[in-house]
Amino acid sequence: MTIPSPTSIPSVDRTAPLLLFDSGVGGLSVLRKVRMALPQAPVIYVADNAGLPYGAKTEAQIAARVSGLLGRLTERLAPRLVCIACNTASTIALASVREVLEVPIVGTVPAIKPAAAMTKTGVIGLLGTEATIRQSYVDRLEAEFAADKRLLRHGAPELVAAAEAKLRGDAVDAQVYARAAAALRSQPGGEAIDTVVLACTHFPLIQEELSAAFGPGVSFIDGSDGIARRIAFLTQGQAWDRREPDLALFTRGESEVNRLEAALEAHGLGRIATF
Ligand code: DGL
Repeated sequence: MTIPSPTSIPSVDRTAPLLLFDSGVGGLSVLRKVRMALPQAPVIYVADNAGLPYGAKTEAQIAARVSGLLGRLTERLAPRLVCIACNTASTIALASVREVLEVPIVGTVPAIKPAAAMTKTGVIGLLGTEATIRQSYVDRLEAEFAADKRLLRHGAPELVAAAEAKLRGDAVDAQVYARAAAALRSQPGGEAIDTVVLACTHFPLIQEELSAAFGPGVSFIDGSDGIARRIAFLTQGQAWDRREPDLALFTRGESEVNRLEAALEAHGLGRIATF
């Protein structure tokens, strides 16, 4: 029997980045928390803006797109860990992506468990994309953690567009937020909602606006803190070395991308390129 010497334990390349993936700017809400946990980590942020919005696509389209892209991205960029910073992609494609990629993958799970622990009234609202709210993954989380609560769901594609617009610096009509709040409030029991799960990574970027639309007495919860903790745990003890400004990659070069420059810079992404 050969006993491995310490030098034979594979070590991670200290310059290898974390790769965060979303359809658009939503994953920046996750990146924000990852930065707090691991300020020294080099990051490549990938926005599949050519595929945005995922929420309007079929399960088959999303699964094919996400696995294909992540396969090419990991081959080309050799990240030490991939975070699918998108609820839609995670609830649909996480298992199949994990099957084909060797790199550790952290997904984004709708924060139903902490919401169930937080609610006093027992009525929880869940805002996600149309694709996310119909997933059996969400049904399972509801059955496991919120069986004795009422979970009201609403698919809100308008909010994805609103978050994208906000980060470009465009004005957004406040009616967009009011409509999302009303869609949950008007469901049976909806007047008692005291906790809202932001089950789309775009939505924490517009939490202030949503909070104003729901009014006082409503708390918001999303999965980003848990993701940051999980990434810190999985990379524990690894060395980090950032040699150049972090990179934002887009799958389609378009004029809108240039207008995101300030928001990207604010999240520590100093370079923009097309993949
Ligand atoms: N940010 C994504 C999510 O967390 C989806 C937005 C979209 O492409 O529809 O679900």
